[in-house]
Amino acid sequence: SAAVIFWTVAGYLLGSIPFGIVITRAMGLGDLRKIGSGNIGATNVLRTGNKPAALATLLLDTFKGAIAVLLARHFAGEGLAPQLAGLAAFAGHCFPVWLRFLGGKGVATFLGTVLALAWPAGLLCCASWLVAAGISRISSVGALGAAASSPVWMLVLGRGDLALLCLALAAIIFWRHKENIARLRAGTEPKIGGKPKPED
Ligand code: G3P
Repeated sequence: SAAVIFWTVAGYLLGSIPFGIVITRAMGLGDLRKIGSGNIGATNVLRTGNKPAALATLLLDTFKGAIAVLLARHFAGEGLAPQLAGLAAFAGHCFPVWLRFLGGKGVATFLGTVLALAWPAGLLCCASWLVAAGISRISSVGALGAAASSPVWMLVLGRGDLALLCLALAAIIFWRHKENIARLRAGTEPKIGGKPKPED
């Protein structure tokens, strides 16, 4: 329907706002693409050494995913519109037209989307991130743990209708982390707040 198309486009546009780049530029913290992993997310903003900037990036990248879902649900109702709006916000973060489609890894926006679609499962995803990242001290391990567990949390909490969406989001997150996965296998993935090793 027209409403579903509208909220999918709106979700994409919301998701495509690269808050990490906007915030680091506004705060004079340098060119994020030339820092650390070069990624536009909160983990890499933290490598500028500015914790408030990283926190703001995390919250805003999460918020844009959540608000896309909540607006679509409010105006178009429960069903396909909020799911597609969330998927589109996630896709907007990963593939923003403004950055020639070279965007981020989608973790914060994924968490916001899942929180808004089914908050109990969203909280379990956030907890999974915290446990995996807490044990490893590595952000990408938290991301992969949260993503991989998300379809399971949906099934466990009786939201099997969202399991396939989470499986798709998890697949894209793993694909977007292929360089991180290579570094993890090589033992060179930096810890949270640490700089990548020179040989990276
Ligand atoms: O959310 C992205 C995170 O999982 C990894 O970020 O900068 O270490 O590649 P980064």
